[in-house]
Amino acid sequence: AKSAALVENIGYAEVNLNVGCPSDRVQDGAFGACLMREPARVGDCIKAMKGAVAIPVTVKCRIGVDDQDPEKALFALAEACVESGADALFVHARKAWLKGLSPKENRDVPPLDYALVHRLKRALPDVPIAINGGLTRIAEMQVQLQFVDGVMIGRAAYHDPALLLDVDPRLFGQSAPVANLFDAVDAFLPYVERELAKGERLSAMTRHLLGLFAGMPGARAFRRRLALEAVKPGAGVETLLGAVNEVRTAIARLAEAEAEKPANAEPAEIA
Ligand SMILES: Cc1cc2nc3c(=O)[nH]c(=O)nc-3n(C[C@H](O)[C@H](O)[C@H](O)COP(=O)(O)O)c2cc1C
Repeated sequence: AKSAALVENIGYAEVNLNVGCPSDRVQDGAFGACLMREPARVGDCIKAMKGAVAIPVTVKCRIGVDDQDPEKALFALAEACVESGADALFVHARKAWLKGLSPKENRDVPPLDYALVHRLKRALPDVPIAINGGLTRIAEMQVQLQFVDGVMIGRAAYHDPALLLDVDPRLFGQSAPVANLFDAVDAFLPYVERELAKGERLSAMTRHLLGLFAGMPGARAFRRRLALEAVKPGAGVETLLGAVNEVRTAIARLAEAEAEKPANAEPAEIA
């Protein structure tokens, strides 16, 4: 409850209790996925948090841990959360195996069971439920949205951020907030400038952009330039813009090559 109040005071719109992380450190602190075994305690936490804040209190969980029966474990946890006033559930649709797997393996190895999460939604129709785990394509998300209220995207958003440009048009029927990846970088610049002015290193921000132009001409040069130059002391916005320019130039070169070649030739190769 104390942490929730801190989160609210900082200005966050929601506070989420982690009942999904399998790491040893988190287990040692008795939070994360090991709480799947203690629905009553999770319920007490939710009640205390709800009593301390006005913002929504939500829970992110797994479908079970170790040898738990997911059908029982997930439903018991979800019901405890709902009875205690949780405002929404985010379910990573696989178990966490708390012994023997690294956190990374725990994001891939235990099998996904989307159907179980769909059954949970049918059992708790009034509770907002979002599904998470292994979703990488908008079309897959559209399928999930026939069964649940939301989808949560983890690694795909990070490795292929361009995916997010399609979210508003294809999932919400609205235009994207920015038209393309170049505009997305421009929209990011004021943040970069603000953080640089506070003394943050450019690479701390650009390391999260390395996947931005994945699959496009010049993507490799973009990554290489950021990897080499953004770490240098004093690297600024111009370093980021220079790297973006690698992509613009490669696209322009490709377009020129396409324009010059005879009509029946093979497409020009992507650099
Ligand atoms: C580097 C990394 C850090 C993560 N940290 C958290 C975390 O702090 N809290 C959390 O609930 N999930 C965390 N996750 C898990 C994701 O939220 C998500 O449940 C998981 O990656 C499965 O979804 P995906 O297949 O869409 O990536 C993390 C995932 C990655 C790759």
